[in-house]
Amino acid sequence: MQKMQKYSKLRSLGVVTAGATALCFGITVYQNQDHLIRTFVMPAVRLLPAETSHNLAVWACKYRLYPASDYMDDMNLHNSFFGRLISNPIGIAAGFDKNGEAICGLKDLGFGFIEIGSVTPLAQDGNPKPRVFRLINDRAIINRYGFNSDGHEVVAERLRKLREREDFNAVIGVNLGRNRDTQTPVNDYVAGVRTFGPVADYLVVNVSSPNTHGLRDLQSKAKLTELLVAVNNARADLKNYEKVPVLLKLSPDLDLDDMKDIVEVLNKKQCRVDGLIVSNTTVARDNITDIKFVNEMGGLSGEPLRARSTMLIAQMYALTKGNIPIIGVGGVSSGQDAFEKIEAGASFVQIYTALAYEGPDVVDRIKEQLSSKLNERGFSNVRAAVGSNYKQYLPSK
Ligand SMILES: Cc1cc2nc3c(=O)[nH]c(=O)nc-3n(C[C@H](O)[C@H](O)[C@H](O)COP(=O)(O)O)c2cc1C
Repeated sequence: MQKMQKYSKLRSLGVVTAGATALCFGITVYQNQDHLIRTFVMPAVRLLPAETSHNLAVWACKYRLYPASDYMDDMNLHNSFFGRLISNPIGIAAGFDKNGEAICGLKDLGFGFIEIGSVTPLAQDGNPKPRVFRLINDRAIINRYGFNSDGHEVVAERLRKLREREDFNAVIGVNLGRNRDTQTPVNDYVAGVRTFGPVADYLVVNVSSPNTHGLRDLQSKAKLTELLVAVNNARADLKNYEKVPVLLKLSPDLDLDDMKDIVEVLNKKQCRVDGLIVSNTTVARDNITDIKFVNEMGGLSGEPLRARSTMLIAQMYALTKGNIPIIGVGGVSSGQDAFEKIEAGASFVQIYTALAYEGPDVVDRIKEQLSSKLNERGFSNVRAAVGSNYKQYLPSK
């Protein structure tokens, strides 16, 4: 009984805080002042449990409550992205909009491309709560969501409806996961290709989330070969105009030998992918000062992951001889961080944790700083900077 009363009090507190935050959003929109979000809304949102803040942010994007960015992307950020034109190379990483509910709001924030998911074939709840933790001093997050997903059909229907809208022009990737209890993981990805091939601009084979038992084993040579052959066969069966680019998302916990094995697989004709995403969250706990949640199980993202993911990008760029475009992700929160990923070999960059800490105007800030950095270094376009200094980020022997 006491427990129930405590729960109901907590719920009321949550509702009141959420209401107050929603009101702040309303005022912010009304006054159209970005700095209000950073100064008042973001600190207020941080008082809420991490998962509640995440849901609130998705909700704010879904109902387009954030002011739309009026930043004009500089010409030096324009690029082609797996056959589509994008006005900047900064995307939102998978895991923010897991179910494709917030795409238009994310586009408003100024992202060049939007990755949704991970989506699993059947709807599932994911791991028990609490499952998201902020390591505030380290500008990091540990999460063990475990692929909470509305499932393929619901998410695909949302995308179909969006595509019917005349004003719709976002570049959308769908990140594919597998159900926790599946006996046939390869079939889960094949189902993803069939369902989302017709409605996505690119697909991601995610074999690198640390929160689904056995998922990362799919990065081993034999299993990855079987998986990519099946995925490529499924793509070949799509109608021509539906032949969507397929990318592979890797873990930052791979060592050099693992990476060599992966590249060996990717060099086989039936296993080719159009791009790599480097990287997912890490199970390592290096560079952490905030010890409150350090022992929570799950994947660590944000600043402590930054250098490691940049190193992996450089290693992958070297191993693939720059022949497979890389989306660099991990701890990017400034134009300088984005530029380092690009110098190391990334053609495009994604962010997630920085959005949670800095709020939506981080997107414009990164773009503005990146554009200036490119000018300062004498690069006429972001393309010219890709891999321009990758050796600097390779580990010293
Ligand atoms: C709360 C949370 C949930 C995530 N969920 C997914 C996911 O479902 N699928 C996936 O491929 N990556 C997921 N990621 C990983 C991010 O896409 C990204 O690779 C990672 O967070 C590193 O980038 P960051 O340091 O900018 O956050 C998630 C990250 C966070 C913080």
